Amino acid sequence: MTEVIRVEGLVKRFGDFTAVDGVSFTVQQGEIFGFLGPNGAGKSTTIKILSTLLKPTSGTAILAGYDVVRQPNEVRQSIGMVFQDPALDNRLTAEEHLILHAMLYNVPRSVLAERIDQVLKMVGLADRRKSLVRTFSGGMRRRLEIARGLLHHPKVLFLDEPTVGLDPQTRAAIWEHVRRLRDEIGVTVFMTTHYMDEAENCDRIAIIDHGKIQAIDTPAALKRRIGGDLIIVTGDPGLQEDLAARYGVEVRRVGNELHFQVAAGAEFVPRVVADFPGRIRSIQVKQPSLDDVFLQLTGRAIRDEEASELDLMRQHARRVWGGRR
Ligand SMILES: Nc1ncnc2c1ncn2[C@@H]1O[C@H](COP(=O)(O)OP(=O)(O)O)[C@@H](O)[C@H]1O
Ligand SMILES: [Mg+2]
Repeated sequence: MTEVIRVEGLVKRFGDFTAVDGVSFTVQQGEIFGFLGPNGAGKSTTIKILSTLLKPTSGTAILAGYDVVRQPNEVRQSIGMVFQDPALDNRLTAEEHLILHAMLYNVPRSVLAERIDQVLKMVGLADRRKSLVRTFSGGMRRRLEIARGLLHHPKVLFLDEPTVGLDPQTRAAIWEHVRRLRDEIGVTVFMTTHYMDEAENCDRIAIIDHGKIQAIDTPAALKRRIGGDLIIVTGDPGLQEDLAARYGVEVRRVGNELHFQVAAGAEFVPRVVADFPGRIRSIQVKQPSLDDVFLQLTGRAIRDEEASELDLMRQHARRVWGGRR
């Protein structure tokens, strides 16, 4: 296997705040590698350093054999970038976006028409070549940005939260395209997400929180670390301590739920119900998910972050609309 990215001890400080705190990892050619973590974890900052948009405070990053600080031009020629925030112009057509990009990246004129054909086909937009971006849906816009990122045949494609704000069906379609790209042209994909379910599509993921990598592995291996099934119980207030004492397990409180792990969940449920008569309101068994891995590693649920995001949106909506009612 060929290594395309090597990052060692990467640190980025903004004033006295440390956004990326000593991150190290490698990515192999043809891998779909994901950074998974809540908002503010340091995902975009890391991607910006790897794509030469930000200078690290310390540490090194080598991409396609080039140092991101000392050889930024070579690095830029080796990568394609899709930013977290959409960066398309409504007044231009799909083709015009690609021609502009080709000029910036010195794609030879002789291959341009063929390349544009190729990348638009890859993302399923060949028939919209001459359409104004104004007429594109959110998913089509993202696909055009991915096509643009591939036009100069980069070794590595960076996708920063490529599916944020898209509906589940469109998200699945984007993932299908990403996997096809890897299979057909062998491009290495480095992407970030805060959607746990989506990280399942990666070959390997790094779980990042507060600027630090908590674990790196395949999604399956990370879930195996949980060991067994998850029992989720709701019930009376004293239940957390009593379950822990009775079964000698660590019981975590997640909202109004109590979580603990056992080897064989289905057999355990009737035992809990019998041992705590009248005290269990609900009980369920769950196969561990990446959510549970995150919870175990960080002590927090990533869902809490999403909830607080939703709260912020609601607050914002009240500020904007509240006074008019
Ligand atoms: N230019 C900046 N100046 C100061 N703080 C920043 C800057 N960019 C990012 N941060 C902070 O660094 C942390 C990590 O940000 P970011 O990498 O964007 O997180 P993520 O992409 O994982 O949501 C956040 O707390 C953010 O507020
Ligand atoms: Mg980000």
